[in-house]
Amino acid sequence: MIKKAPLAAINHKGIALPSDVLRLNFNENALGMPPSAKQAIADHINLAFRYPDEYRRKLISKLATRHNVTESQISMGNGSSENIRSVVQMLNTKALSQGLKFQVIIPTPTFHFAELYASLLNIPVVRVPLISDDFAIDLETMQCIADKFDGISLFYLVNPNNPTSTIIKSKKLQKCIKDAPDNHYFLLDEAYGDYVRDPGFTSGIDLIKQQLSDNIIVTRTFSKLYAMAGLRVGYAISNALTVKSLESFMSLDNTNLAGALAASAALDDTEFRDYALQSNNEARLIVENALDELGLRYLDSQACFVLHEITTEVPLYQSRMAEHNILVGREFLPIRGYNRVSLGTPEQMQKFVTTLKLFRDKNWL
Ligand SMILES: Cc1ncc(COP(=O)(O)O)c(C=O)c1O
Repeated sequence: MIKKAPLAAINHKGIALPSDVLRLNFNENALGMPPSAKQAIADHINLAFRYPDEYRRKLISKLATRHNVTESQISMGNGSSENIRSVVQMLNTKALSQGLKFQVIIPTPTFHFAELYASLLNIPVVRVPLISDDFAIDLETMQCIADKFDGISLFYLVNPNNPTSTIIKSKKLQKCIKDAPDNHYFLLDEAYGDYVRDPGFTSGIDLIKQQLSDNIIVTRTFSKLYAMAGLRVGYAISNALTVKSLESFMSLDNTNLAGALAASAALDDTEFRDYALQSNNEARLIVENALDELGLRYLDSQACFVLHEITTEVPLYQSRMAEHNILVGREFLPIRGYNRVSLGTPEQMQKFVTTLKLFRDKNWL
């Protein structure tokens, strides 16, 4: 039998990477999938000729129990990116059908998919820079912009934000949502919500359950803490009526069998979850200690990445890191002089900080 060579890892430009390259650039979970999730796929691989309905339904039921909501409050996505797209499309269609204008208001920098999907539909996007002293999301300015707009506004709030890894404090968030008129909608992207340690964080899922507003939609994903970015499983939670409207914009059967099985197994695997959180904390402390030692500023990370100061031009730093076989994040304008590094395993972060210190010795940092 002919043995096929293993597929080479490739970067986002399609260039093959040596296998020892450290990928600290896409906020993936370097621990890899929970063994229980891999086993669930292996045990059911012979069922892959069937449509995924049964296992998709089981996953929805598990998620409903996990979050203490009804199944009708959950919309599955092919990754939470699909859920983000459906929210933008649903509100755009709603505005059009009522003869209203529609805009998306986003902090900048933030994860770019809401902006991307809006731009593809020619929906105006208003960018509101983060507050300059602490890089917090400027909710007040976003509110003012929405208040002055004659139409529907969607606030896209990534919490914790990417690339800053900081949270919106619960009181601020609740006030903003509570004070909002009916034509303000809130998409709370909680892709990193599972990592948050700060007790000042409130998940939008709790706000939905408290019925703070009918206009909250939360998106979550299995791509981060649960380490299955390649399987594309995400979901949105809202009230049942909104979920029904969102579902019109989702592709049918959008959770594949492997993803549904792996996600269900991962939800039950509290041991993996605890291990992944502990590993992420250890990795974070290694990076924070090194940054302290080097006198480089960093933001309070509530996720699986750290935004930290760089004293040279970020693209130059990035390419020097790549020459040392480490891929780090990019510059997120308009923030200058900071770089995002994803947290790999503690061992990987030791390698990263050794390289950082080497850069200091070379006067590159
Ligand atoms: C804030 C945020 N939301 C959503 C996503 C996309 O997640 P998914 O893999 O579920 O589509 C990412 C991916 O990096 C992200 O950073």
